[in-house]
Amino acid sequence: MRTSRSSRTSRTSRAPRAPRSSVPSRLTALVTGAAALGALLTAAPAAHAADLPLRDLAAAKGKAMGTAVTGSKLTGTYGEIAGREFNWLTPGNAMKWGSVEPTRGNFNWTEADQIVDFAEAHGQEVRGHTLVWHSQNPSWLTNGTWTSAQLGQLLNDHIALEVGRYKGRLAAWDVVNEPFNEDGTYRQTLWYNGLGADYIAQALTAARAADPSAKLYINDYNVEGVNAKSTALYNLVRSLKERGVPIDGVGLQAHLILGQVPSTLQQNIQRFADLGVDVAITELDIRMQLPATAAKLAQQADEYKAVVAACVAVSRCTGVTVWGFTDSDSWIPDVFPGYGAATPYDENYAPKPAYGGIATALGGTTTPPPTGACTATYSVTNQWNTGFTGQVRIACSGASLSSWKVNWTYGAGQRISQAWNATCTQTDAAVSCANASWNGTVPDGGSVTFGFNASWSGSNPVPAVTLG
Ligand code: XIL
Repeated sequence: MRTSRSSRTSRTSRAPRAPRSSVPSRLTALVTGAAALGALLTAAPAAHAADLPLRDLAAAKGKAMGTAVTGSKLTGTYGEIAGREFNWLTPGNAMKWGSVEPTRGNFNWTEADQIVDFAEAHGQEVRGHTLVWHSQNPSWLTNGTWTSAQLGQLLNDHIALEVGRYKGRLAAWDVVNEPFNEDGTYRQTLWYNGLGADYIAQALTAARAADPSAKLYINDYNVEGVNAKSTALYNLVRSLKERGVPIDGVGLQAHLILGQVPSTLQQNIQRFADLGVDVAITELDIRMQLPATAAKLAQQADEYKAVVAACVAVSRCTGVTVWGFTDSDSWIPDVFPGYGAATPYDENYAPKPAYGGIATALGGTTTPPPTGACTATYSVTNQWNTGFTGQVRIACSGASLSSWKVNWTYGAGQRISQAWNATCTQTDAAVSCANASWNGTVPDGGSVTFGFNASWSGSNPVPAVTLG
């Protein structure tokens, strides 16, 4: 496994990570180097809790921290953050019916498989999303004319095939998505109109049969607070349980608007928990009217904190998933014109105040990261038996640079042989790289990168980098 991690230097020096029980592959990566092992043993996580990745902070609270992902982006900085900060992944689109069976009988599992493989390589769990929905279905399905019997068969076959394909590998499935209208009546969909309300019980039963170990969820939006819609969901779950239909949890999507976090969120989570089901916040984002300002971003941080804290406060709330961790991978600007900046990282992968809000709710720092900062991120982009290619990205958000220098000290004898887009010198283990004449300027909201080739042997631990 490639060891490729990054270091944020705008915050205090990065703490070595505490060991985690649920992430054996990442721990293995850490302890392959003697230097890393020494650091691990001398870690003082309490003093540096702010620097632990969100997944570790969450795990210490018995929770999971997740993100929706796009499979094709899981390399470079996007892949590093997804792997480092989160321990649940949800495919944003890859497992929807329209994605996996675009024409009848022709299946495309490429992106879904890629996400599941990535998760397993990074000690993460996958939440499957979604099996039965009114949206993003293939046109052959929505345009077809089906009898009830045919529709029931299509539903059963789809669930048996997709759930069965990942049997034993997925932690949970959003079996039914968005079954309700705002007033708590059932949404008129292909499924409801063809099969009646019992399509829900049928789908859950089929999913349980196809993978008895996956937790089965019903997922919806605008059900975060106590209201007519969430009460309809509550009544449905209660009646399913009374009937013995398999139902393990409810997903509260939580596509929220700045200033509109429901005050009854925790109370609502608790009432579902009291029914005997798990609750997950499955698609959290908090959108704001653009442009984003420092004041709005600070308010957003408080609201992310409040949502995560509500989950932390209820033991049956299993975790929080953000619907994309970076503004560059968010659905909001496409669907809600004029709105955006809804996720915890900006478009250049710099953590926003919202990141600090989440960390704080999970027991991390009480000081949100600075709103204006430039950061340097080191990553290994390619590695072979004796050498590797590295990349450093310098990104600014709320700040800018007219020149820069990045320094680090290698811990395992690595030696740089060649650099591009920077002038690098190495004296013993100490490396110093200064901007080239053409890339000293990093504007607010912009980034530059430089690369290098280097040798390694034994281990190739990622150094902490500082930006001067
Ligand atoms: C969204 C995706 O993020 C977009 O890329 C896609 O174009 C539309 O669907 N509720 C859900 C998610 O359950 O599947 C939706 O995801 C967002 C709303």
